[in-house]
Amino acid sequence: MLSQRKITFYELIPNKIGVVDRYIEIDKRIISEVTKATGENSNIWTCPEFNRREYLRNFFQYPAMMVPVVQRKLIEIVLQADSEIKNMVDPFMGSATTLAACMETGIDCYGFDINPLAILIAKVRTGPYFLNDLKHSQSQLVENIGADKSEYIEVDFRGLSKWFKPEIAKELSRLVRAIRKVDNLSIRRFLWVILSETVRLTSNDRTSTFKLHARPQEEILNRNLSATDLFKYHLAKSLEDYRTHVDYLTKFGMVHNGSYTGNVEIKLLNSKDGIFNPTAEPFYDLLVTSPPYGDNKTTVTYGQHSYLPLQWIDLPDIDETATRDFLRTTSEIDRRSLGGITSQLNQVDLISLLEISPTFRNTYQSIINTNENKHNKVAAFILDLNKTLDNIFQVLKKNSYQIWTIGNRRVAGLTIPNSKILIELIESKGGKLVTQVEREIINKRMAKRNKDTALMNNEDILIFRKLG
Ligand SMILES: C[S@@+](CC[C@H](N)C(=O)[O-])C[C@H]1O[C@@H](n2cnc3c(N)ncnc32)[C@H](O)[C@@H]1O
Repeated sequence: MLSQRKITFYELIPNKIGVVDRYIEIDKRIISEVTKATGENSNIWTCPEFNRREYLRNFFQYPAMMVPVVQRKLIEIVLQADSEIKNMVDPFMGSATTLAACMETGIDCYGFDINPLAILIAKVRTGPYFLNDLKHSQSQLVENIGADKSEYIEVDFRGLSKWFKPEIAKELSRLVRAIRKVDNLSIRRFLWVILSETVRLTSNDRTSTFKLHARPQEEILNRNLSATDLFKYHLAKSLEDYRTHVDYLTKFGMVHNGSYTGNVEIKLLNSKDGIFNPTAEPFYDLLVTSPPYGDNKTTVTYGQHSYLPLQWIDLPDIDETATRDFLRTTSEIDRRSLGGITSQLNQVDLISLLEISPTFRNTYQSIINTNENKHNKVAAFILDLNKTLDNIFQVLKKNSYQIWTIGNRRVAGLTIPNSKILIELIESKGGKLVTQVEREIINKRMAKRNKDTALMNNEDILIFRKLG
């Protein structure tokens, strides 16, 4: 484990060595360790064995979750090579798999996402943890649910009767009222996540895709589910996972009195508009992230997938900036995400982007030639990604490392080489590609039937250094 590491590579480098040489040596070390790990286990970046309960991974089915042990191995390699790293940031945090993995190292963790449901899950996964109080709340909660005979429906939104059968809406309302009675905010958040998964499983939405898509009427009529039973079942299971996760972190000295020993901060924000920076100076030592592959609408609809659960949650419990505006339409979160707005693209920025990235220029031209009118969609995403990179480069320290996991996608029958484009964009901002490896995607459920999103079976892990 990292917490027990004895001597780092950097400590072996003589003191008088120059800064530039120092980082070149660290680069070499990273390359050699990545090569060694790949040689020892060809499956290491794909899907190594791990205990899913340790990372609270089954808590809510958030789309495109990363494999925590892959992230942990990568972080471990970089931290062992550079002992000066004290914090990490993930600007596309999702359900905080990377943060959960990073917490085993004890460094400070910062995570941002534009989706309030991601923020909720991340806050629960990263603590504070109230194991005993939760156990106590569980029995009180079950009692309160049983005692509630009210038929009042707690939510009202367009599509309520389309997405929920009346009995399910009544049961969910009783669960909502019982959760509201819990005083402790952290425990309420835990319960909101359990409710989210219950909503996902009991709504009339198909669970086979991330896009909202109602089941056929006959199937809806024949489904006889109990939201209360599902909630109780998932609560009991998740409590066990929660205990395993906290015990694991405690064993390695990373949790004390129910809280992570390092600093952990989660923020609901659009990484395109600016990244939280607690100081005016560049602040972050390491970035580890897996961004979307394209606009949500045609890749993974994280927002639509979160829309129904979010309707039932008291949004201020997630974050003070989580307002009903996020639920203006079923597509609002997706619209706010990278590449979500395709109208009125900034032509000056587009021209500069075409100059910066020859790969993007060729791709853009090829899409125009298909006459499918999809060039704006691709341009909007890459423009947003580029803008996010500008923000990221402002808050990253000199010689900090970045670990990106990204895959290519298809639009109008053409491959969009995201990895190559990302490399060119980062290099244009003074980043250097240190090394790269490929990983197979096994668990990511993608909308494979759609010809535009087909064949996303591999992704690249790219390690960069911001040149000092
Ligand atoms: C591939 S997922 C990350 C999944 C994560 N690694 C996990 O294991 O759960 C990409 C995330 O980027 C977020 N996202 C998209 N556009 C964003 C933006 N402009 N600002 C912040 N987050 C954004 C999405 O909401 C989504 O959660």
